[in-house]
Amino acid sequence: MIIETERLILREIVLTDAEDMLRLHSNQQVQKYTGEDIITSLEEIHSKIKEKSADYVNHGFGRWATILKDGMQFTGWAGLAYLPEFDEIDLGYRFLPEYWGVGIATEASHAILTYGFDNLHLKKIIAIAMKENKASIRVMEKVGMQFDKFAPYEPGGPDFVWYWCDKQLITKNEVD
Ligand SMILES: CC(C)(COP(=O)(O)OP(=O)(O)OC[C@H]1O[C@@H](n2cnc3c(N)ncnc32)[C@H](O)[C@@H]1OP(=O)(O)O)[C@@H](O)C(=O)NCCC(=O)NCCS
Repeated sequence: MIIETERLILREIVLTDAEDMLRLHSNQQVQKYTGEDIITSLEEIHSKIKEKSADYVNHGFGRWATILKDGMQFTGWAGLAYLPEFDEIDLGYRFLPEYWGVGIATEASHAILTYGFDNLHLKKIIAIAMKENKASIRVMEKVGMQFDKFAPYEPGGPDFVWYWCDKQLITKNEVD
């Protein structure tokens, strides 16, 4: 276990999560605003999990399976990723639609930012979303991140919304 909150346990994603991860990554609603390809096979999801596991070893952090303590259900993942193209550390999350709207992303993100600053001693964490992804942007605001800019994620691509924070900012800005 990496992080525990009131309702959640965050732990490394492992190969036995493959079926749950496939449900998540094959879901059109989940992937609507992520820019990621839909994954439809267990083989592809195994590679995805191995890719994510490499981050734990290479960086000491990654995207973590987010488990609801009540029933120990897999709800999705949330966590940090190093983006070498920007030399930034990114907060990200994906949850199954049946768990949306009850504050899971906010609860997980708040704990991840605290862990990032207090345990990993990171100086800055960013988050990036499509402009249309109002729920994701709202989560960034609720955990106290600050709007940075509209800028593409890929050269020549559409503008995304970029947020950032450091420890001071989230302590000052967090809203209910
Ligand atoms: C984005 C996502 C992680 C949010 O997860 P969640 O657990 O539902 O988030 P929370 O319940 O903590 O907070 C969501 C907030 O967004 C608000 N919201 C939801 N849909 C909204 C919309 N269309 N417009 C404005 N606000 C919206 C909610 O009302 C809530 O704010 P509130 O507490 O002030 O009412 C979830 O919808 C998801 O997994 N989406 C698919 C994957 C994805 O897009 N990931 C982000 C990529 S950048």
